[in-house]
Amino acid sequence: MADPLKYLSGFGNEHCTEAVAGALPQGQNSPQRVAFGLYAEQVSGSAFTAPRAENLRSWQYRLRPSAQHAAFRPFAHSSLRTAPCHEVAPTPNRLRWNPQPLNRDADFIDGLVTIATNGDARAQRGLGIHLYSASRSMTRVFFDADGELLIVPQTGALTIKTEFGILAVKPGEIAVIPRGVKFRVEVAEAARGYVCENYGAPLRLPELGPIGGNGLANARDFLYPTAWFEDVSVTTEIVAKFGGNLWVCECDHSPLNVVAWHGNYAPYKYDLARFNTINTVSFDHPDPSIFTVLTSPSESQGTANIDFVIFPPRWMVAENTFRPPWFHRNVMSEYMGLIHGEYDAKAEGFLPGGGSLHNAFSSHGPDKATFDKASNGELKPHKIDNTLAFMFESRYVFEPTAFAMSGGLLQQDYDAVWAGFDSAKLK
Ligand SMILES: [Fe+2]
Repeated sequence: MADPLKYLSGFGNEHCTEAVAGALPQGQNSPQRVAFGLYAEQVSGSAFTAPRAENLRSWQYRLRPSAQHAAFRPFAHSSLRTAPCHEVAPTPNRLRWNPQPLNRDADFIDGLVTIATNGDARAQRGLGIHLYSASRSMTRVFFDADGELLIVPQTGALTIKTEFGILAVKPGEIAVIPRGVKFRVEVAEAARGYVCENYGAPLRLPELGPIGGNGLANARDFLYPTAWFEDVSVTTEIVAKFGGNLWVCECDHSPLNVVAWHGNYAPYKYDLARFNTINTVSFDHPDPSIFTVLTSPSESQGTANIDFVIFPPRWMVAENTFRPPWFHRNVMSEYMGLIHGEYDAKAEGFLPGGGSLHNAFSSHGPDKATFDKASNGELKPHKIDNTLAFMFESRYVFEPTAFAMSGGLLQQDYDAVWAGFDSAKLK
């Protein structure tokens, strides 16, 4: 179904939007009195003095200041984890998981379960990898002070109502909710997918180098919500993730009450089908960094806190080349998920909604069936179609959670996909 919502386009642009004409101040941020008695409030996603290219902040014009709420108290959650977690030692073993069942009776928050973490949330590096499964709409609102949330739907559409407006997101699209931004997820059907909780630098578009001024994910295809608000005086729970724990408080109105806003710190969505895929037209399989959609850099140039990489439909034309991903070991650690279809390095076992983890220097690559087929197939142009896999790649080694290792989803025989390779014969 077509998305009926209106959006503002352009990654990181200085967007301006008002749900009521005249609500947005012109020429200044904080007049003595804002139109209609609205309250001006700045949300800073970077330090005030961050370089201009990395400076993130928005101004909101609200029915009430967001400070108007009661004290937070601890809120129990049985399956959400934060780095450093230390439930399970990081493992060199290759791990692969089946998808979780769709029918959990949960809203988006209760339905979060952590698979792995790395880094340290309080030091603002690393990430958490969560699965979500939601059969009910949230009535409370949530914000995450520990990290930015990259939401990757696998089944079912989400309506994400945020302080900044509404994003409609379906499988094949992604949404990013910046750190600290309040939102509520509504579902019309059972939904599940993946969440990357980015403790580090906010996701941004990768540099393009010799590719030039266009290509990969183009800036104009990132869509930001237009201002929308709820003027309701009902008691609303605000759940916060802060310092690795959840907290809850009440306020006597909806905190989704921003009538107008401007700035460059806001949620956004992106249709992965808009990705301009670049690949070889001569020989060899390029490094998968060519498929980077968004990156969260670390202090070391080119060594990402997170790269969000996709493996979209594309033509394979390489000559005299083993076309699937090669055998490799990598200082970076790789978590992969599958939105739909089949991934070209695995003949079976890597399922939509499932996942795999190849930690630093864990040997991996094509399974035997894929290797045999790709080594012997005719190298005519071939379209890899009806598939969408992705990777959260990080410089930090992942620690699986106890749920990941013993929650019933872990496949016990993953190593066997690399059994059965015969030794090369030198004579
Ligand atoms: Fe890999």
